[in-house]
Amino acid sequence: MVITTTIAADSNELLHSTFASRYVRTPVPRFKMPERSMPKEAAYQMINDELMLDGNPRLNLASFVTTWMEPECTDLIMTSINKNYVDMDEYPVTTELQNRCVNMIAHLFHAPVGDDETAIGVGTVGSSEAIMLAGLAFKRKWQNKRKAEGKTYDKPNIVTGANVQVCWEKFARYFEVELKEVKLTEGYYVMDPVKAVEMVDENTICVAAILGSTLTGEFEDVKLLNELLTKKNEETGWDTPIHVDAASGGFIAPFVYPDLVWDFRLPLVKSINVSGHKYGLVYAGVGWVIWRTEEDLPEELIFHINYLGSDQPTFTLNFSKGNW
Ligand SMILES: Cc1ncc(COP(=O)(O)O)c(C=O)c1O
Repeated sequence: MVITTTIAADSNELLHSTFASRYVRTPVPRFKMPERSMPKEAAYQMINDELMLDGNPRLNLASFVTTWMEPECTDLIMTSINKNYVDMDEYPVTTELQNRCVNMIAHLFHAPVGDDETAIGVGTVGSSEAIMLAGLAFKRKWQNKRKAEGKTYDKPNIVTGANVQVCWEKFARYFEVELKEVKLTEGYYVMDPVKAVEMVDENTICVAAILGSTLTGEFEDVKLLNELLTKKNEETGWDTPIHVDAASGGFIAPFVYPDLVWDFRLPLVKSINVSGHKYGLVYAGVGWVIWRTEEDLPEELIFHINYLGSDQPTFTLNFSKGNW
């Protein structure tokens, strides 16, 4: 991170290396490029020695992000680590593997995708990027509808529980959407669907429900939310949709609670995100966002790039991306 941290303020300007070879017996500057080069072995040792001061990920019980994978996975990761994922023409098999994952996850979440149809979704760095993209799609859809109706479209809001993960606050601030949070109450630490639907108004771009609240893991009642919101939509003529933030629960619920109805089986659920690196059991950072149908992702958000010959549609925040 380039933002100044207390580490920089507290630290000595010089980096002393007790164990590295004679090439670095004299200290090297900590924050500036050294005047002279050093052999790669010495640079490796210095950095490696410093990294030993990090915690051991296998002992990090504060994280629910995966810290161990089978050695075969590490082999596959290392085989692909030098590919830039965005070069889809150059790496068509990687692209195909991503598309297969999108389709598998869409089917797992009961998206209405026929056997000869392709699901709509994209691989991301994690759930945060997935949520930015899903939120943008909701905002743009809402704006387009309001414009077509000749109504104002400058005050979008999103309704969530106060227990949302920080990425929703980021989305709201970065993309200028008011975050309307349902307050939690003593003994009830997730979004109450009744209160959420009461807070919905004509400027609400979506209600976001969490399947696996970050602090407790508790699932919010998406089925009840869908019921109440359907009723409100009928009464008001709005069509406020639902997003499910299934960052943690998306790879638990389909296997452990297959009868729990929380996903695209509910008509108002238009998009779902899930983190691969949580209960998808892979290393950080992989996430996914899946849309219910093509109509739920406004075409103007998709960029068509053609660097190496064929049309490649993309909808991501970044261009280049590490590929494993
Ligand atoms: C409910 C929820 N949403 C979103 C996120 C952000 O996920 P990621 O770390 O994959 O960006 C988290 C992470 O803890 C989460 O728990």
